[in-house]
This record gives sequence, structure tokens and C-alpha cells, in this order.
Amino acid sequence: MLLIKKLAMVVVLVMLPIVDSSLEEKHIGRSDKYDGFIYNGFKDASSDFSFGNSVADITSTGLLRITNSFDGAYQMGFAFYSHPLRFKNVKQNSSSTISSEGNNTSTSVSVFSFSSSFIFSIVPESPGLPGLGMGFVIARKLPGLGPKASDLHGMFNSTQDREPTTHTLAVELDTLYNKDFDDIDGDHVGIDLNNLTSVTSKPSGYYTDQNGSYRNLSLISGDPIRVWIEYDGVSKNLSVTLAPLTMPKPVTPLLSYNLDLSDILLDSMYVGFSASTSLVQTSHYILGWSVMINNGTALPINLSQLPELPSKEQKSKVPRS
Ligand SMILES: *[C@@H]1O[C@H](CO)[C@@H](O)[C@H](O)[C@H]1NC(C)=O
Ligand SMILES: *[C@@H]1O[C@H](CO)[C@@H](O)[C@H](O)[C@H]1NC(C)=O
Ligand SMILES: *[C@@H]1O[C@H](CO)[C@@H](O)[C@H](O)[C@H]1NC(C)=O
Ligand SMILES: *[C@@H]1O[C@H](CO)[C@@H](O)[C@H](O)[C@H]1NC(C)=O
Ligand SMILES: *[C@@H]1O[C@H](CO)[C@@H](O)[C@H](O)[C@H]1NC(C)=O
Ligand SMILES: *[C@@H]1O[C@H](CO)[C@@H](O)[C@H](O)[C@H]1NC(C)=O
Ligand SMILES: *[C@@H]1O[C@H](CO)[C@@H](O)[C@H](O)[C@H]1NC(C)=O
Ligand SMILES: *[C@@H]1O[C@H](CO)[C@@H](O)[C@H](O)[C@H]1NC(C)=O
Ligand SMILES: *[C@@H]1O[C@H](CO)[C@@H](O)[C@H](O)[C@H]1NC(C)=O
Ligand SMILES: *[C@@H]1O[C@H](CO)[C@@H](O)[C@H](O)[C@H]1NC(C)=O
Repeated sequence: MLLIKKLAMVVVLVMLPIVDSSLEEKHIGRSDKYDGFIYNGFKDASSDFSFGNSVADITSTGLLRITNSFDGAYQMGFAFYSHPLRFKNVKQNSSSTISSEGNNTSTSVSVFSFSSSFIFSIVPESPGLPGLGMGFVIARKLPGLGPKASDLHGMFNSTQDREPTTHTLAVELDTLYNKDFDDIDGDHVGIDLNNLTSVTSKPSGYYTDQNGSYRNLSLISGDPIRVWIEYDGVSKNLSVTLAPLTMPKPVTPLLSYNLDLSDILLDSMYVGFSASTSLVQTSHYILGWSVMINNGTALPINLSQLPELPSKEQKSKVPRS
């Protein structure tokens, strides 16, 4: 009896603060018109995410860790927001039907504008020796247990890679040159539609606002890098912009690509990250993440609330939380 009471109290004590503050603030109201969320760090948020049996987790300090150098080589990690987001307003269009599976293509319905911003850090165990990289992914399904080791960043398995109907959009942050996918180099950013042969890619970097000159940005420096991914549903313009954390968003995106996403994205899609490593152990971290669909720009991540990255000495020794 006493034990049950104690347990009940623990549950109440633990649940109250989570329900009251941290969780509810992260989800932007859900409606037919817009959808979104913001995480200034991921403390107490593991129930919002689906890790698909992968090595991904949330550290006690609130980092979303997709792969961990502590886990060994040939790892694959997924971290997806558990709830699907609405990318098309099928309800407005009587000629389409929403499927509970979210797999009815409704390709005639255009995709909402959306905007996402996140901050990542890739920390190789041995400086300069990268894993395979990571990607921001929009997919029709939550990933299950993928192949253990893959050169596909965990985004598309080899079966899906050959299927044109996988309905996957990814922005890859690729840290290894792979000629099979026509990679341009071993440190680039690309837009991928349904497979890993990017439709467009550029060496990772940014254009300065001062005079438009290009600056390199090493994806594997370990330094946090901020990314903005934006789709304009009217002009069908998808853009990707990178910058060091200390800089505001550059005016000129690194990549911009004109395509109608209505054939790629279904009504209801999952958003998340994937990463994989090969021989070289590498940690792929997300520090903060914001998504907004059909309601303007993603809410700005509050940099002063971000979790700290493990110090250089600790980085390979941090145990799983
Ligand atoms: C959606 O956008 C409107 C107008 O910009 C804003 O007032 C509102 O707060 C936004 N909704 C959410 C939930 O952020
Ligand atoms: C509904 O879809 C049809 C094409 O199937 C399109 O012509 C029409 O404009 C759409 N209506 C709305 C309200 O989006
Ligand atoms: C899927 O879409 C087709 C038309 O493209 C419609 O006939 C069918 O009822 C839809 N199925 C579901 C489950 O919504
Ligand atoms: C939707 O998915 C379900 C289960 O995965 C499948 O049975 C059904 O045929 C699919 N429908 C369409 C229209 O693709
Ligand atoms: C690849 O994905 C397909 C479709 O989701 C799935 O049926 C298959 O089992 C996956 N293959 C592996 C090796 O995970
Ligand atoms: C990859 O996808 C793009 C666009 O979806 C397509 O044009 C291309 O043929 C595909 N490449 C391979 C190798 O499947
Ligand atoms: C742009 O400005 C930077 C200093 O901010 C300078 O180093 C560089 O040479 C300039 N490039 C051009 C093309 O003017
Ligand atoms: C960018 O990086 C490449 C490869 O590391 C290097 O060769 C080049 O000099 C760098 N360019 C600038 C402008 O820093
Ligand atoms: C997309 O938008 C950006 C600004 O956000 C602009 O610089 C770029 O030229 C546009 N690209 C296309 C293909 O319209
Ligand atoms: C960012 O977080 C700090 C610390 O929690 C807080 O003091 C500040 O008001 C926040 N800034 C914004 C713009 O919300």
C-alpha cells in the first residue's frame, strides 16, 4: 500500500511539470490550417520522438543524439517527431479523400509552404575522419529497424532507393564522397527526392550578406551549424541555407531549387533526422529544432536555451542516458 502510494506520488510529481510546462509549449496549435513545433533543446521530450529501434536517443542534457561515437562503428540512427504533420489541405478539396494511412497521394492538391530550422553538430571520434553524414527527412512512414550498416545515411534503404514512389524528401548533410550517388565531394549539402542522387548539391558553406562571397563551412568541425529549410508553396521554391551559429540567416540561400512537391509529399508526413556512420565512429547531434507549416517562418530557436555539447575530452565517453 505504502509502496503504491509512493509510486503514485512519484508519478504525479514527475508528470505534472512535464505536462504543465515543457511539453505543451513545444507543440504549436494543431489545426487544419497550420501545424508546427519548437524545441530549444530536447530535455524531457523523448516521448515526442520515435527512434525506430535505432541507436538514437536524447541525452540527459537535452541533446537529440542520432548516432553516438560511444556506440561503435557502422551505426544508424533515426529520430522522427512521432506525430504526422499535415502538408496539404485535402479537406478544402472535395475531389480528394484523406486516408487514415496518409498514403493517398492526392497529388493534385498543392503542398503548403513550410519552414524548418535546426542546429546540428557532427563530432567525429577522430578529428577530420567523418561518418557518412546526416539528413533532415520528410517521409511517409516512421522508420522501422533499418539495415545495420548502410551507405544510405539511413534515409532510404536499398529497396526503397529503387522505388520512385517512396515519397521521401531529404536534405543531406553529406560528409563522405560516394561516387555511386554522383556526390560532388565529401562535405556537401544536397536536396534528395526519393533517392540519394541529389537533384542539386553544393559544397557546404554560405554566401555572406556583405558582398555575396562564398565561405566554406566544414560539416564535421564539431561546431554547431544552423540550417534553414524553406518551401514556398506559391513559387514552389525549396531553399536550404546554412550558417555558423553566431551568424544571422544569410539572405542568399546555399541551395535553391524549383520544384512542385505535390508529387513527393502526401497529405500527412513525418519529419525527422537520420544519420549513419561507417568505420569511423561519429556523433551526430541536434541541439534545437523548429518546424512551421503554413504559418510563416519557423519560430526562432532560442540560442540561450540550447543544451551544451559534450566537451572534447568527454565526447567519446558519454554513456547513453
Ligand atoms: C500563426 O501565425 C499567426 C500570424 O503570423 C500568428 O499570430 C500565430 O501566433 C501563429 N500561430 C502559432 C500557433 O504560432
Ligand atoms: C481541387 O483539386 C482540383 C484538381 O483535382 C483543382 O482544380 C482545384 O482547384 C482544387 N481546389 C482547391 C480548393 O484547392
Ligand atoms: C484514395 O484516392 C482515390 C482517388 O485517387 C479514392 O478513390 C480512394 O477512395 C482514396 N482512398 C482512401 C482510403 O482515401
Ligand atoms: C495505403 O496503405 C495501406 C497499408 O499500407 C494499403 O493497404 C493501401 O492499399 C494503401 N492505399 C493506397 C491508395 O496506396
Ligand atoms: C526497406 O523498406 C521497405 C519498405 O518500407 C521494407 O519493406 C523493407 O523491409 C526494408 N528493407 C530493409 C532491409 O530494411
Ligand atoms: C532519383 O530520383 C530522381 C528524382 O526523384 C530521379 O530523377 C532519378 O532518376 C532517380 N535516380 C535514380 C538513380 O533512381
Ligand atoms: C568580400 O568581403 C570579404 C571580407 O568581408 C573579403 O575578404 C573578400 O575579399 C570580399 N570579396 C569580394 C569578392 O569582394
Ligand atoms: C573550401 O574548402 C576546400 C576544401 O576543404 C578548400 O580547398 C578551399 O580552399 C576552401 N575555400 C575557402 C574559400 O575557404
Ligand atoms: C528561391 O528563393 C530564394 C530566396 O529565398 C531566392 O534567392 C532564389 O533565387 C529563389 N529560387 C528560385 C529557383 O526561385
Ligand atoms: C531565451 O531564453 C532566455 C533564457 O531562458 C530568456 O531569458 C529569453 O527571454 C528568451 N528569449 C526569447 C526571445 O524568448
